[in-house]
Amino acid sequence: MSDPGATTPTTPTTPVRTLDGTLDLPLVGLGTYGLRGQAGYRSLRDALDVGYRLLDTATMYENEDEVGRAVADAGLPDVRITTKLHHEHAGREEEFLTRSLRLLRVDVLDLWLIHWPPGGAARPDVWERLVAARESGRVRAVGVSNYSLAQLDELTAATGVTPAVNQVKWGPALFDAGLLAAHRERGVVLEGYSPFKATDLAAGPLRAAAGRHGVSAEQVVVRWHLQHGVVVIPKSGDRERQARNRDVAGFALDAAEVAAIDALGR
Ligand SMILES: NC(=O)c1ccc[n+]([C@@H]2O[C@H](COP(=O)([O-])OP(=O)(O)OC[C@H]3O[C@@H](n4cnc5c(N)ncnc54)[C@H](OP(=O)(O)O)[C@@H]3O)[C@@H](O)[C@H]2O)c1
Repeated sequence: MSDPGATTPTTPTTPVRTLDGTLDLPLVGLGTYGLRGQAGYRSLRDALDVGYRLLDTATMYENEDEVGRAVADAGLPDVRITTKLHHEHAGREEEFLTRSLRLLRVDVLDLWLIHWPPGGAARPDVWERLVAARESGRVRAVGVSNYSLAQLDELTAATGVTPAVNQVKWGPALFDAGLLAAHRERGVVLEGYSPFKATDLAAGPLRAAAGRHGVSAEQVVVRWHLQHGVVVIPKSGDRERQARNRDVAGFALDAAEVAAIDALGR
């Protein structure tokens, strides 16, 4: 098993988490929900221009074509793409993987997730088919989204394969040290979504840290994820905000600041 606690600072701006000992996932990626059409394509090109190397999409976002076009046109060798199987498409894994690969214009997908537990259940049979896709070489890593710990354990018990990632709603107000530790113990990388929407950006500890470091509350939230080793995928369609959201290498939160932000989760 890979060391899920390992955070490798390759360069100051692109720390990564390693999945299954093979795939490096940048700790800060771009959420792409709502980035569609020509304006969406432009925003995706902007994000790649300003340095994003992880794009998070899903069949449900109906923008895999835009994501695929932006990545292909940018011609960068090291972009990671996550997409997700819609839970209502359980049983049609092969069809939707083929479709995602075509729209994304790649032969191999970096990370494929089950978007939600289908019908609220863990569904080891669906998980087995994701694992088979990885074993066939068309996907580098497989994981889930919105799964509980019990559901993660059910998949592991049934198949012997633990999801590399669990993508869940995460942010200071949702901080749960026990849940984070439980993912780490299982070798599951926690990836947080809706970091800003799930956060009261006017909360005292965020404003205080932002003021002390001369950054925005959004940057504090991103930096806080990074210091916990949680992959974070803020969405912005605006080039300036995209650039600012990932410009968090120039400051560090001290232990007291992290503790004060963690306490927003209580
Ligand atoms: N697995 C799941 O079930 C699931 C569910 C929800 C989301 N996700 C993923 O997570 C990604 C991120 O979550 P999200 O899109 O829900 O919300 P989010 O990233 O928390 O927030 C996005 C919103 O914040 C605004 N924003 C971004 N940077 C800003 C800044 N510096 N200052 C002010 N406003 C800023 C954006 O507007 P502008 O675009 O105008 O900047 C947008 O309205 C999604 O795009 C998607 O990829 C996954």
